[in-house]
Amino acid sequence: MTSLAADLSGAVGQAFAAEGLDKAFGLVQASDRPDLAQFQCNGALAAAKPAKANPRAIAEKIVARLKADARFAKVEIAGPGFINLDLTDAVLGERIAAPEKPTAPNGKTVLIDFGGTNVAKPMHVGHLRSSVIGDCLQRLFRANGWKVVSDIHLGDWGLQMGQLISEIEVKNIAPLYFDAAYKGPYLEQSPVTMEDLEELYPAASAACKADPARLEAARRATVELQDGRPGYRALWRHFVEVSEVGLEREFSSLGIKFDLWKGESSVHDLIAPMLDDLKARGLTETHEGALIIAVAREDDKKPMPPLLLVKSDGGVLYGTTDMATVIDRAREQDPDLVLYVVDHRQHGHFEQVFRAAEKTGIAGKAQLEHIGYGTMNGPDGKPFKTRAGGVMKLYDLIAMAGVEAKSRLAEQGLGSDYSAEEREAIAQQVAIATIKFADLSNHRTTDYIFDLERFSKFEGKTGPYLQYAAVRIKSILRKARDEGHELGAPAVHSPEERNLVLQLLSLGDTMLAAEQKRAPNILCDYAFTLAQNFSRFYAAHHILSESDLALRGQRLGLCARVLEVMTGTLNLLGIAVPERM
Ligand code: ARG
Repeated sequence: MTSLAADLSGAVGQAFAAEGLDKAFGLVQASDRPDLAQFQCNGALAAAKPAKANPRAIAEKIVARLKADARFAKVEIAGPGFINLDLTDAVLGERIAAPEKPTAPNGKTVLIDFGGTNVAKPMHVGHLRSSVIGDCLQRLFRANGWKVVSDIHLGDWGLQMGQLISEIEVKNIAPLYFDAAYKGPYLEQSPVTMEDLEELYPAASAACKADPARLEAARRATVELQDGRPGYRALWRHFVEVSEVGLEREFSSLGIKFDLWKGESSVHDLIAPMLDDLKARGLTETHEGALIIAVAREDDKKPMPPLLLVKSDGGVLYGTTDMATVIDRAREQDPDLVLYVVDHRQHGHFEQVFRAAEKTGIAGKAQLEHIGYGTMNGPDGKPFKTRAGGVMKLYDLIAMAGVEAKSRLAEQGLGSDYSAEEREAIAQQVAIATIKFADLSNHRTTDYIFDLERFSKFEGKTGPYLQYAAVRIKSILRKARDEGHELGAPAVHSPEERNLVLQLLSLGDTMLAAEQKRAPNILCDYAFTLAQNFSRFYAAHHILSESDLALRGQRLGLCARVLEVMTGTLNLLGIAVPERM
């Protein structure tokens, strides 16, 4: 993806250099005031201080040089020394007519840790945000030339495993697995199904809350599991396998793929050597029987508790597996960057882990970064629940959005003459678009209220509106083909075309900004503005009915580019565009 602003920065940078100033001052960006100019450069203001000169005087010299450049339709000074720039329509037309070069690999690797669902517990909407945001980031970083490795990092090694094991023992569901004298083999088929686990887990967790003896039993079971007791390991394997089948189904219905299905358990064997190493290097301390690593710093404003590595009962924790996972990733992928897409309420945990990783130097060259996000709330402003007050499962949410999508499509008279099967498939795609766009269009750190009725509308800033905008262009192009019209190279003749082309040409810069800020909402804004610019163009100009053949070809060519960019942007958001609606 080429960056128009980067190309212009080159040209303006040369003008600065010719005045004996640093060419970095030539940085050009899209204008903050698109009503006044297409692009702006603020470099004269920055250059003034070190050059001990008046910013306007510098700007005047730069402007004088740029005026000689025929690519610019307008070069102006605004305010104290801002330089405003417009390109000629001919240059915009040339740029948009030229085929896009694919982005070259940047030679860097990013590992994205997202999804983070827990074994034996159904995936709930709390994991939705991680999955949707993480998937968008993996698509974006890949498109920007990174090598991306995504890892679901299953929660499969903590206390909830011991809780389940002890619940199964109490309920006497699979006695064979608890017979310490028995050495295997165990069953191929899991003695419990996903549905069983969905009932067993809440029962176990309630029992542990009510009864300290049950909690103690669960703790012991967790430690024994981690220590490798064969019956417990076998039972645990069943939990993992049964859960993964369900998870894969749900993730694939969301169009989300992971490169790695690792989990907390995957690094178990790295823990003992890691602890030995950290102890030998004098990096740990013992506190009330527990092994800890101090991470507080002198300039901390708030108290920063140490990272707990081993509890006094010998059990390892979330932070321990996260530390070992840092080591595993440094060895296996040696990433430049690791993004943890996890609820912002875990910020303290990641701060501890990152500090401990830095102190111990286990991350290799990787920069570790927590990508936090806010809560998805129900209309009552509290975390989204089912009508009955339970935790909403993702599966049910998608079904709910599907029902809403179907009634909206019917209301709009869309797809009424298609087969029931096709209607169903379209409704599914619309439902996913509704959920994902609603989630991604808010800045990730803000909480938002999930208002299905609003999010599934075909007007306004919604997923369905954008899908429909793309489908409408598909249908124009289909008609053009059926009527035998030729597509030409797009060109710029009017303000509507100019705005549309400028928006198309800013895709590369937008993708970079979204990457740098780790902010999918920037892509949502982009897609929405593109759809609006297209609407204005469509309202103001004839396309299929244009009698000037050259003009018709150019406009059809522009439609094709808009469709390509819209589809590509929605694809970055994980949203598919139906063939028709
Ligand atoms: N399983 C965790 C949860 O449900 C999220 C895991 C996030 N990733 C990590 N490396 N800690 O909260």
